[in-house]
Amino acid sequence: MNNLEETLSIIKPDAVERNLDSEIKEIFKSKGFLIKKEKKIQIEKSEAEKFYKVHETKAFFDDLCTYLSSGPIVAMVLEKENAVLDNRELMGATNPKDAAEGTIRKKYGISIDKNSVHGSDSVENAKIEIDFFFKD
Ligand code: CMP
Repeated sequence: MNNLEETLSIIKPDAVERNLDSEIKEIFKSKGFLIKKEKKIQIEKSEAEKFYKVHETKAFFDDLCTYLSSGPIVAMVLEKENAVLDNRELMGATNPKDAAEGTIRKKYGISIDKNSVHGSDSVENAKIEIDFFFKD
């Protein structure tokens, strides 16, 4: 059954800084994701605070927003059947220490903060996150 979805993926500053963006994009493509839109940008901390608003009560919120705005990132709209869940599986656990073999965070992640990629956690949030970066 066809369940074509879009999800928002971000290649985070730690990965862009290490020039891993092309390599990570190739992984997405090799797993059947179509990169429908992409842009390399650096965002302000205030924008990171808006993007990660769901985490605003968490102790790590300030560090998280400082980090996401600390350098260039690559924001992408990925399309595939079951894109949201498949992307989360391909990224692996939030903490690279817990991520399974073959996942992006296992391969490239440095720490729970510098975990190389972000992906939407639901179809509903994917729409919100895609609009955040690509509504014009
Ligand atoms: P991400 O999927 O981008 O969503 C929120 C980010 O917060 C998460 O990846 C981690 O990089 C970061 N983070 C830092 N500390 C924690 C924590 N204790 N639990 C969950 N996420 C954390």
